[in-house]
Amino acid sequence: MNPRYLILKLLILIILQESSSNSAGFYGTCNTPFSCGTISGFQYPFRRHQDPAYCGYPGFELNCDDSNLPTINIMNITYQVLDINPTAQILKIVRKDMINSMCPQDLVNTTMDPKLFSFTKSYMNISILFGCPISFTFSFMGIGSIFCGDNGVSQVFLVPGIQGPGSCETSVVIPFPVDFLNSTGLGQVLQEGFDVMWKVEGSGCSDCIESGGQCVYDNSKGLTMCACPESPLLADSCSTVNKTEVNLSPAVSISSSSGMQLCF
Ligand SMILES: *[C@@H]1O[C@H](CO)[C@@H](O)[C@H](O)[C@H]1NC(C)=O
Ligand SMILES: *[C@@H]1O[C@H](CO)[C@@H](O)[C@H](O)[C@H]1NC(C)=O
Ligand SMILES: *[C@@H]1O[C@H](CO)[C@@H](O)[C@H](O)[C@H]1NC(C)=O
Ligand SMILES: *[C@@H]1O[C@H](CO)[C@@H](O)[C@H](O)[C@H]1NC(C)=O
Ligand SMILES: *[C@@H]1O[C@H](CO)[C@@H](O)[C@H](O)[C@H]1NC(C)=O
Repeated sequence: MNPRYLILKLLILIILQESSSNSAGFYGTCNTPFSCGTISGFQYPFRRHQDPAYCGYPGFELNCDDSNLPTINIMNITYQVLDINPTAQILKIVRKDMINSMCPQDLVNTTMDPKLFSFTKSYMNISILFGCPISFTFSFMGIGSIFCGDNGVSQVFLVPGIQGPGSCETSVVIPFPVDFLNSTGLGQVLQEGFDVMWKVEGSGCSDCIESGGQCVYDNSKGLTMCACPESPLLADSCSTVNKTEVNLSPAVSISSSSGMQLCF
């Protein structure tokens, strides 16, 4: 073979690798599945805080600290992750302001981003009423009451459903199990947290993993893509590559998608 032709080919190769380095780095840069803090079994759509943004779907960023449970921020509330079931796509979480207190310390309603998470049927909304007048106590017909505050002296009332404060000062809505056993354990039940199901990336991502790829988030498209170990580097699924098809003529082809193919 003509040595000048060989040098030219090498040059083209080098230039192409330089220019494709943006997309070439996807595969293998996100470690899935991974553990975070004391919990293992996380994978896409989740990513660690320190991972590149494309390793996870927006809104599924975890703070990992080796000796603690992971935390996640949803709609501006920080939750501790107590458990994960990747197959059922269920996360068990508890509000961080309720880890050391049966009563919410931050007087904000628990709201989930409905595009990302949903509740299972085993939970209902309840409202916790703070700062109620004495007269309220006599007519109270709700789920029960617990004592909280600095000295555990202020009584708060749990009522079913989403309710405004009424004659009380504040109402805080939080999910609560439908089948709670009795009113003596209300505080413990609140501190056990609740399950949420995540909605994004179920079957699509398992197709990608089965085909030998890893799911990544393509910010420009706003979509989950499959990062493949070989060209095309980003696809819907890696098995769509037909590797026997190439190798015909000495030509360089650049596919229209973000993946690139070198065919000499
Ligand atoms: C989120 O919480 C922080 C601190 O509690 C607050 O400063 C900020 O305004 C909140 N953002 C939204 C969008 O609610
Ligand atoms: C609480 O109410 C909101 C708004 O109606 C709803 O989206 C959410 O699913 C309810 N939560 C539970 C646990 O049922
Ligand atoms: C929680 O939601 C209820 C119903 O929308 C509302 O009346 C209440 O003021 C909210 N609580 C807080 C602390 O924002
Ligand atoms: C009520 O629930 C608490 C905590 O879940 C439990 O310890 C207690 O035994 C229960 N009491 C009854 C009468 O079921
Ligand atoms: C790959 O290409 C070969 C040869 O052209 C063809 O026989 C085979 O069916 C193709 N496979 C797929 C999955 O497209």
